[in-house]
Amino acid sequence: MFRFAQHDKTRSVEPPRVLNVEDLRRAAKRRLPRVVFDYIDGGAEDERTLRANCHAFEEVTFRPRCAVATPACDLRVSVLGKSLSTPLILAPVGSSRLMYPRGEEAAASAAGAAGIAYALSTLSGCRLEDVADASKGPLWYQLYLVGGRDCALSAIERAKAAGFSALVVTIDTAVAGMRERDLRNGAKELLSGNLGSKLPFVSQLLIKPHWLAAFLADGGLMKFQNVVIPGKGPMLYADVTAALEHAAVTWDDLNWIRQAWSLPIVIKGIHTGDDARRAVDVGASALVVSNHGGRQLDSVAPTLRILPEVVASVGGHIEVLLDGGIRRGSDIVKALCLGARAVMVGRAYAYGLGAAGGPGVARAIEILRTDLVRTLKLLGCASIAELDRSYVDVPADWLGK
Ligand code: GLV
Repeated sequence: MFRFAQHDKTRSVEPPRVLNVEDLRRAAKRRLPRVVFDYIDGGAEDERTLRANCHAFEEVTFRPRCAVATPACDLRVSVLGKSLSTPLILAPVGSSRLMYPRGEEAAASAAGAAGIAYALSTLSGCRLEDVADASKGPLWYQLYLVGGRDCALSAIERAKAAGFSALVVTIDTAVAGMRERDLRNGAKELLSGNLGSKLPFVSQLLIKPHWLAAFLADGGLMKFQNVVIPGKGPMLYADVTAALEHAAVTWDDLNWIRQAWSLPIVIKGIHTGDDARRAVDVGASALVVSNHGGRQLDSVAPTLRILPEVVASVGGHIEVLLDGGIRRGSDIVKALCLGARAVMVGRAYAYGLGAAGGPGVARAIEILRTDLVRTLKLLGCASIAELDRSYVDVPADWLGK
């Protein structure tokens, strides 16, 4: 019965129905209530940065080498000392368990099966130990300070014991961005309001019976299983705006985090060369050029645009990753040409998760991977290690800084 249902899910995201990430996005929109879909799809304020992240990839064009035979392409890369099959990592996505039953386990399992890494968000519904059991690939734990330092320390200890191999510290959440879609959809009322305040917003859940049945069978509203408040237990689920109000991490915090976690630290949320150098100074092993997918400060520059400045400023002392706006394997190639070692994707796989659970995530990874191989062959390049600026044209002012 279960295998039959899985087979059905797999078929729902197969070609020709699903050929690209935008198809997965449409499938997620069909299955999910608006409040959940918009949580994935939306950004802050006017969503300028959200759009700009994608648009920046259009401004970079390829310079292929034709009449070159590339029968096989080598996509392997080492990130933080672990070999990945593809230069791709699933980024931390909060509340994945609202998108699909046991969503974080499903995504981690799909990543592990594909030979890539998965980063688990602090704001998750599945226990980090269960996520570790579900995956055979590298796992990273993303840390917010919701719940305070003691609470973070216990998550760090648990993550270490469960085999997570890197800690991702997100530094761009001084407060939550203004995500107007969440407010209009009643995210706050649905998650923590009383019956009267929920009522105007419940119809969007009722018109998605497949999602609703699965959500209820999975136990309904989750708790944040990895935010265990001393003396109280796992934190009650709150909407992300409320949670992020207490999530800020400062450079000062990074010093004690460094003491508490001896394995590699990845700093996510770097927007400038100056902060990139600070990340090197606090002993991070990698950084992520990231604007939180356009969900925090609107009108910051797209990540691809900032990448050359960051790469130049760290001078090879630290691994540079990038997220934001990646919807095609060709986008990954462009980021690698401009100096990223690998990329992280959030929405691209969250759409797959919302559409069909684990098979949807697997399909998102497969789409990006096959795109990547095709792009390399069309460029006449046999391996991602050979990608560099000579394969792209970049607007002149991008390289000025
Ligand atoms: C959580 O980190 C979010 O951006 O929603």
